[in-house]
Amino acid sequence: MKWLWTSRADFERDLAEELPGGRVLAPALVIGDALKPGSELPVFGRQGFPIAAEVAPTVEAVVAVLRPLLPAAPAAWSLHVWVPDSDGGNPLSAQATELAEGVTKALGSAGERSVRAHELYDPAEPIVQVCLAESGRAYVGAQPLSSTVSLWAGGRARMKIPSGAPSRATSKLAEAIAWIGYGPESGDVCVDLGAAPGGWTWLLLRRKTRVIAVDRANLQPDIARDRKVLHLRDNAFTYRPEEAVDWLFCDMVWKPAEVGKLLAMWGEKHWARYLVSNIKLPMKRRLSMVNDVKRLLAAGGWREIRARQLYHDRDEVTLHARR
Ligand SMILES: C[S@@+](CC[C@H](N)C(=O)[O-])C[C@H]1O[C@@H](n2cnc3c(N)ncnc32)[C@H](O)[C@@H]1O
Repeated sequence: MKWLWTSRADFERDLAEELPGGRVLAPALVIGDALKPGSELPVFGRQGFPIAAEVAPTVEAVVAVLRPLLPAAPAAWSLHVWVPDSDGGNPLSAQATELAEGVTKALGSAGERSVRAHELYDPAEPIVQVCLAESGRAYVGAQPLSSTVSLWAGGRARMKIPSGAPSRATSKLAEAIAWIGYGPESGDVCVDLGAAPGGWTWLLLRRKTRVIAVDRANLQPDIARDRKVLHLRDNAFTYRPEEAVDWLFCDMVWKPAEVGKLLAMWGEKHWARYLVSNIKLPMKRRLSMVNDVKRLLAAGGWREIRARQLYHDRDEVTLHARR
């Protein structure tokens, strides 16, 4: 069965390159063969599902596909009707909402709900996805919740950040922690390379950690004043920790291969147990650059290395690894 995938707009070719039989269908939409069991999820795939049918975007047509796919009386199921995050896809959002309401009504309301991230759920519960494409067609599929790529509709993991957080970067780290599934805990020591103005440090402080924030630029004053922050105006490439820490965070706008070498050195020296790093991507050869950086990390002894372009990432990807 073919799968429908969505990426950030302008990254569909990178996603197609990653997928078996991948081909670009439209801006932000890619079609491909099913991944081999056990293979890694694609870096540039925000969301994906197996296509049961491609139909006209009407309630009747979608329901006709879904009836045989859903158990007769599912105790609970989830429905995501989403549009590609592209100039042609986003204007279809109102139509998607209408279609979702119609399908929900037609299939009976008992137990229906939307998936909320972090909510406890039964992994065998079915989730139905419908993608409204700008071609005027709807792609429909159902699968167990446990096999969904993202719990957010269309993979748009919008993080709501309380006011007071200094930058968009805070959302990137919040999403990274949600993606990884765990994060720094109370009492952990974190190094934040490229910390200014302090979005990541701010979030780390909310998790009751101690933060060594390395950046020649200023931190937001309330963050710099926090007793749990040590701000060092050092160059991240020459900074050496006095002792090993729990977490290494890195968010510098710098050449990915050089950042990769720096992170590899932290691995070799056992200076941190866990790593979260944002890597800025070049204009071309983006997938091979991600793979180059992953190889550098592996050579530095990092394990379980994963990379993903998160919803809040622009021309960048987020890496996670443990030592
Ligand atoms: C995208 S910003 C980081 C945003 C930050 N994560 C936040 O949440 O507010 C990149 C930062 O990297 C810093 N930076 C770039 N090169 C650096 C270096 N060699 N050493 C230390 N900081 C560096 C810049 O000064 C800049 O503040």
